[in-house]
Amino acid sequence: MRKGAFISLEGGEGAGKSTQIERLRRRLEARGAQVISTREPGGTPEAERIRTLLVTGDAERWDALTEALLNYAARRNLVENLIKPSLESGSWVLCDRFFDSTTAYQGLAGDAGPENIKALRQLVLGDFSPDLTLVLDLPAEEGLRRAGGRPNGQERASEDRYEKKGLEFHERIRAAFREIAEAEPQRCVLIDGAKSIDTVETEIWAAVQERLEDRMP
Ligand code: TMP
Repeated sequence: MRKGAFISLEGGEGAGKSTQIERLRRRLEARGAQVISTREPGGTPEAERIRTLLVTGDAERWDALTEALLNYAARRNLVENLIKPSLESGSWVLCDRFFDSTTAYQGLAGDAGPENIKALRQLVLGDFSPDLTLVLDLPAEEGLRRAGGRPNGQERASEDRYEKKGLEFHERIRAAFREIAEAEPQRCVLIDGAKSIDTVETEIWAAVQERLEDRMP
């Protein structure tokens, strides 16, 4: 049996990650792949509890280094309990955000320091990494507008701690993701998230086929 692959989707608020994960899941399943989709922070009952601490409350509730530590605590739980076992059983794993979000939000846009985030990644994950990272790029203003107008349930509406951080912070996030994608072209593909949902889906599928065709069933 061919082995599955680990794909992360990254980008700022409202970039369309969850919609595209759902579409990619359907395409992979149509090819006969077993697919697990999950999200960060969260994805397991324990990591979801950490998520609640991170995404609710005052914007100033945690400083950037504490946010990084909480995200990495949640990430360790998710990797050990869901991602690695799923990959070992041959599944594909699609993750809405992964370690690049900590590098972008806390390390590059926030002031936890990129070197600290690198050290934390090494401590918690060692060499473990997505096989492919799709970075959805969108102007910050457009992303925040989309995120604000999302047909949210009550849960989503209360998860606005990061959306409260202001346009300038979100512009730094966008620049950070572009920088990450440029620095690691062998792992990352930058996708124009301003295009239509169908076009983005097609471009993502082309990237997955190009990079991971040999893993497909
Ligand atoms: P979501 O709204 O995309 O589910 O993500 C929750 C928020 O958490 C989002 O504003 C990005 C932020 N975040 C970080 O700041 N650092 C991280 O490491 C992760 C995974 C998310």
